[in-house]
Amino acid sequence: MRPNINYLIAGVFVALIFITIITVTAILPAMTFTPVPSEAAYKYEPGSPEAIGRMIYRREGCFYCHSQFSRYQDREMGEVVNAGDYVYETPHVLGSERTGPDLSNIGGKYPDAWHWTHHVNPRVVKPGSIMPSFSYLSDEEMTYLVAYLQTVGAKRKQPNWVTAPQEYRDRWDKVKEAVDINSSAAANAGRGIYMQNCAQCHGVEGRGNGPTSVSMQKKPANFTRPFYKSYDDATWFWRVAEGVPGTRMPRWYKSLSDESMAYVAAFVKTLPQDNEEAVTSYDDVDIPGALDENFWEIEAAKAHGHNNPLKDYAPSTFKAAGADDTATHGGAH
Ligand code: HEC
Ligand code: HEC
Repeated sequence: MRPNINYLIAGVFVALIFITIITVTAILPAMTFTPVPSEAAYKYEPGSPEAIGRMIYRREGCFYCHSQFSRYQDREMGEVVNAGDYVYETPHVLGSERTGPDLSNIGGKYPDAWHWTHHVNPRVVKPGSIMPSFSYLSDEEMTYLVAYLQTVGAKRKQPNWVTAPQEYRDRWDKVKEAVDINSSAAANAGRGIYMQNCAQCHGVEGRGNGPTSVSMQKKPANFTRPFYKSYDDATWFWRVAEGVPGTRMPRWYKSLSDESMAYVAAFVKTLPQDNEEAVTSYDDVDIPGALDENFWEIEAAKAHGHNNPLKDYAPSTFKAAGADDTATHGGAH
């Protein structure tokens, strides 16, 4: 039977399209994209504790739940990454899911003992965490894994990820001549602007729960969180003016004057920034004391070469509170 020439032509055509797509989206970028190593780039020497820890990170599938790419529009993930930070890492472990928080800047964020405790039973340091227990890792593996985590992003420093760029600082220096942002007169002037332009999203009390917020994926900022104590005046001004990329926060400089933005910032600054109960970041729910207690147990165990006592200690203690980790307990060994 002779092959049908029409099918042949169609087949070749489809194959060509396929090859073109692969070339354009995969092969060409791989060949032409050669980022310059950045200062944050970390070279994992084969066989070093950090390199082994990185392999454990891959083996355990940590990257199924954790990404390692904080972008400009990501909020509260720390310094932004760029491609040059990862030039030495093949294959990369950037991940694509954020079931857990982004880990680009985890290095140096917590002491080693915190990570140990957290890996044995995440619920000890993060109540309500859905991260699985990795208590079956040996002490060596645990040491390597923690050594790796402490390298991730530890060298990255771009301190302007959340503060106003210089351009806005200069602009603010001019505006503050006209508006005393700490005066009650300014705050009063800002209240009206706020109620008209901001309250539908950010809420009358600034808790991020205005009526429009209901339909929003990325909720409006809750100005009553302690986090906002760290904002200086120029940063408030910049945020109001430029909005937040990737969210529905408008760029107010397009409709409000510099003075009006200063007034509304003055009002926002008068909202109480001590609303501990409005927890929107996992960082706000650490149990004070839990870490210290475990820290000494681990240190003692290391010093005497015993097994990590937390393996038995943590799950049973927290079983009472409803968490049950015994399923993964000792599963692999
Ligand atoms: C099933 C998803 C899942 C897996 C798999 C997972 N995690 Fe997590 N992880 C989470 C969640 C959810 C949180 C947030 C709650 C918490 O801190 O426990 C978290 C938090 C963390 C944090 C704290 C981040 C911070 O900034 O506070 C670290 C560090 C971490 N995980 C490391 C790991 C490592 C290392 C592995 C692999 C051994 C791993 N995770 C595997 C879901 C996961
Ligand atoms: C359409 C809804 C909407 C309106 C209207 C709106 N915002 Fe926002 N705003 C948001 C969202 C969404 C975010 C992003 C929150 C985030 O990044 O977590 C945000 C963020 C902000 C931030 C940044 C907070 C931070 O974490 O840096 C400031 C400041 C702010 N808004 C002030 C205002 C002011 C002042 C007005 C009125 C002049 C206003 N917003 C009006 C939705 C809105």
